[in-house]
Amino acid sequence: MSGTFTKSMARNIFYGGTVFFFLFFLALTFDTERTSPQRDNREALTDQVKAGKRIWETRNCVGCHTILGEGAYFAPELGNVYKRRGAEFIKVWINAQPSGTPGRRQMPHFELSESEMDELIAFLKYASEIKTSNWPPNDEG
Ligand code: HEC
Repeated sequence: MSGTFTKSMARNIFYGGTVFFFLFFLALTFDTERTSPQRDNREALTDQVKAGKRIWETRNCVGCHTILGEGAYFAPELGNVYKRRGAEFIKVWINAQPSGTPGRRQMPHFELSESEMDELIAFLKYASEIKTSNWPPNDEG
């Protein structure tokens, strides 16, 4: 039989492989479900953070920026912007747009009230404290 690849060998590889990878997939899913509560910063999900996420969505920040890698690649990653820049910088930055600097990509002006600004910053702070296994991988935007 050596050197012959039979139909039953092919069938065993097919079924064995299917079962193996299905179990592997279940194990990964289980592991994700088990570890997410320690990583996703859910205890910090206040109403203010939720309101900030609503601003993030309704103003379509994600149409230009990524957050933890999700979004568009026109503008810097903002998952870590709270840690990189701090609340005061973010506030001043948003109020000062567009910069009008020649040769630089422009961010539109957003008319946000003081409390909307605080909500947005609370959301960015929340996002920066999610345990992402160091994503994004560098300190740049
Ligand atoms: C039309 C595209 C666009 C939209 C929409 C947009 N931005 Fe931006 N944003 C930019 C660009 C481009 C830059 C970088 C500009 C530069 O470096 O001169 C930027 C930079 C920033 C920075 C500074 C990042 C850093 O690393 O210093 C922050 C904070 C920021 N945006 C927040 C937001 C928030 C919050 C929203 C939604 C309310 C938003 N942006 C919506 C284009 C956009």
